[in-house]
Amino acid sequence: MNASHLSILVAMAKNRVIGKDNTLPWYLPADLRHFKALTLGNHIIMGRKTYESIGKPLSGRTNIIITHQVNYHAPGAIIVNSIGDALRLYTDRDDKNTQGFIIGGAELYQQMLGLCQRIYMTELQHNFEGDTFFPNLNPDEWNETIREKHYSDGKDPLEFHFIVLDRKI
Ligand SMILES: NC(=O)c1ccc[n+]([C@@H]2O[C@H](COP(=O)([O-])OP(=O)(O)OC[C@H]3O[C@@H](n4cnc5c(N)ncnc54)[C@H](OP(=O)(O)O)[C@@H]3O)[C@@H](O)[C@H]2O)c1
Repeated sequence: MNASHLSILVAMAKNRVIGKDNTLPWYLPADLRHFKALTLGNHIIMGRKTYESIGKPLSGRTNIIITHQVNYHAPGAIIVNSIGDALRLYTDRDDKNTQGFIIGGAELYQQMLGLCQRIYMTELQHNFEGDTFFPNLNPDEWNETIREKHYSDGKDPLEFHFIVLDRKI
């Protein structure tokens, strides 16, 4: 199965936290804009818990939700019962110029990391409390190709970096 152009998109704290109580532990509008700019017009693949955390399909994107539940309803999204089915939908897409993004959560990242060529990571330079973590990356497998430093607006600016990691051949 050709899963080229499949990327992970994640925002992670310094201590690898990505979620708390099925939501994001931070509010970072610049990261939400970054997320939107990357994903618009493309396929986004997510676990059922991440979908419920967002609460609705994201407009302008093909939303694919993975769940074991056979009767799961999410109008406006495509439901699949396996990672294989999600990949088939993506590889059979009509417009091969569109890209696929795995947008979480931890269960999906863990299972799909090995299929991805690229990771778009927003790395917050602070620790956050949480209950969901991004898997450890093997440095032998990934090259950091881009790192941009940013600060959030407001009284106590948060430092965060937009990073791109590409799989080594
Ligand atoms: N910081 C970020 O960038 C980011 C991004 C996304 C999410 N998050 C956070 O991450 C947390 C959610 O992550 P999570 O790991 O708990 O859940 P998740 O990965 O979003 O969803 C897990 C669910 O996906 C389904 N699933 C997973 N693997 C499957 C498979 N192989 N076949 C069929 N179904 C499968 C199951 O649904 P069923 O139980 O229905 O079978 C499972 O319970 C939240 O806190 C969210 O806010 C953070």
